[in-house]
Amino acid sequence: MSEKNMFDDQGQVPEGCWQHSATELRSAPDMLRIEQLSLRYGDVVALDNIKLEVGANEFIALLGPSGCGKTSLLRVIAGLNVPQDGRIVLNGKDVANLPPRHRNIGIVFQNYALFPHMTVRQNVAFGLECRRLTKPEISTRAMAALEKVRLAELADRRPKALSGGQQQRVALARAIAFEPSLLLLDEPLGALDKQLRTRMQFELKELQRSLGITAMFVTHDQDEAVAMADRIVVMRDGKIQQIATPSELFSMPATAWVAEFIDAGNLLSGSTRVEGGKWIVQLPGGVEIEGAAPDGVDRETAKLLLPAHSLEVFPSKEDSAYRLVSMRPNGMALDLVIACGELQFRAQLPVGRAAEFVTGAPVRLTAAPDAGTWLPGD
Ligand SMILES: Nc1ncnc2c1ncn2[C@@H]1O[C@H](COP(=O)(O)OP(=O)(O)OP(=O)(O)O)[C@@H](O)[C@H]1O
Ligand SMILES: [Mg+2]
Repeated sequence: MSEKNMFDDQGQVPEGCWQHSATELRSAPDMLRIEQLSLRYGDVVALDNIKLEVGANEFIALLGPSGCGKTSLLRVIAGLNVPQDGRIVLNGKDVANLPPRHRNIGIVFQNYALFPHMTVRQNVAFGLECRRLTKPEISTRAMAALEKVRLAELADRRPKALSGGQQQRVALARAIAFEPSLLLLDEPLGALDKQLRTRMQFELKELQRSLGITAMFVTHDQDEAVAMADRIVVMRDGKIQQIATPSELFSMPATAWVAEFIDAGNLLSGSTRVEGGKWIVQLPGGVEIEGAAPDGVDRETAKLLLPAHSLEVFPSKEDSAYRLVSMRPNGMALDLVIACGELQFRAQLPVGRAAEFVTGAPVRLTAAPDAGTWLPGD
């Protein structure tokens, strides 16, 4: 297979094969730095001025809606697409002009791209055969990679005789067999059912940790991103919206869009009043919820984020504009949905308070002062 063909057709690419010679094999990951990276496909702007730094051994999740540029970002880092602008520095070296096989990057695509006519061992070895390694070295490395993903005993099977999770592990073994300094994973668990997916999340994370490898992982499942990533990069329309640890992301989303995308809580907008350093949202029934006015944010478009746990709810003896629509125990918490006309609020109380409420009955809402955070809107 020619190099060009290998790169042109993503579905046919035996990932891991384009990486470089044995002398350049390296297990110690370094830092990845991306500056002002832009990629256009004709008129479509897929990546718009991306800036990102990834530390050695970090596990980064790329999270964002379909079409936001996640796959494009991985492809540009791997060298499968050439950006119109920007720099990619890997291990201190600008790789912009390096072909994919010289970047020492392993990739696992969503469809695994395993060769059906080859055994598991041959699939993994294939990624090593384009290097200057002897046959015994290739065999040893292929088996070592299969052992790392606990598939050594299935080395002589063909892919179609494997489960989805096992096929996924073969693709992973092929990507790690040559000890890449960076592992790129494009929705690698997307084809797996929920139970297997949860187990593989754990295994993948463990493998990344034990190999001491830097990884970038695409998902559009925020729970998966939270479960696995050291930091999450949230993308939208080719731009990075926020880079944060999972807990920072949920406690302090950068914009109203991010808060909505990750479902961080109630987002309130509408009539606001300014008092002192506060902007106060006025809700029906005289309910007011406030948050400190942020600097440099347009009040017209800003939204107030009010996490479910910061909303206080009481049963109301008098009629009220607010009604309890539903309540559901959720571990130690009680999830409530409250409606006021078209508006819906989610609240979270201790599960012990369930006995106070009747579904459909009127309730009263309040929030502690400063419970809300104003976020910039669009
Ligand atoms: N080969 C291509 N030619 C033209 N436009 C493309 C091409 N590949 C991707 N695009 C466009 O670039 C944008 C980013 O696509 P990309 O595949 O990176 O998105 P994504 O975030 O990976 O989406 P998904 O979650 O659906 O996989 C989209 O608007 C997409 O339609
Ligand atoms: Mg994609």
